[in-house]
Amino acid sequence: MKLFYIDSTMREESRTRLIATAIIDKLSERYEIETIRLDGADFPAVGSRILHDRDNGIVPERYADMARRLAAADRLVIAAPFWDMSFPAALKVFFENMSLYNITFGSNEKECYGLCRCEKVLYITTRGMNIRTGDALEQATPYIKALGRLWGLGEIITVAAENMDYSTPEEINEKVNDAISKGLEICRDF
Ligand SMILES: Cc1cc2nc3c(=O)[nH]c(=O)nc-3n(C[C@H](O)[C@H](O)[C@H](O)COP(=O)(O)O)c2cc1C
Repeated sequence: MKLFYIDSTMREESRTRLIATAIIDKLSERYEIETIRLDGADFPAVGSRILHDRDNGIVPERYADMARRLAAADRLVIAAPFWDMSFPAALKVFFENMSLYNITFGSNEKECYGLCRCEKVLYITTRGMNIRTGDALEQATPYIKALGRLWGLGEIITVAAENMDYSTPEEINEKVNDAISKGLEICRDF
């Protein structure tokens, strides 16, 4: 079974990555893991040049190959800090590059449909403010759910720690450990 891990954390001391690493370590007992680290990966934002190439059937082979591996993965894990009420732009740009017709999604005369094999997605995040998953101010989970509908990713599960920027180091530690425990619990049936 294959798991595709998108590490969209952006700081050496990332708390989100601390949580994700413990969970990925556990999942590596059951899954073959491919990690893509977005910090420094510099995927291009899709603009007129790339669209023109796509219209002419040109997609860089390394992106098409990666999208095929993503589409073939049984599980997806995304680690991304909460930035500007959502997630880092590098992750959106990565999604743009992986959102390839006839690889991650297809379409018929009426609508688009997903082509991904994935049945469950685990999205791991930490937030600076005290904003809960499901709050209208939290615009990352709804986006990932919407993309999951386009790509056919199955169930989306969010593990989050909040209020990180207004907590003492001890509290932060506790929140990280709580999120790891929740994540490990989810891993039992993931
Ligand atoms: C560029 C940037 C933007 C951020 N935007 C928000 C935000 O909109 N809302 C919020 O609650 N926290 C925001 N934060 C705080 C982070 O969500 C918080 O510190 C988080 O724990 C960082 O995760 P990390 O330790 O994995 O890097 C932002 C932090 C950075 C660096």
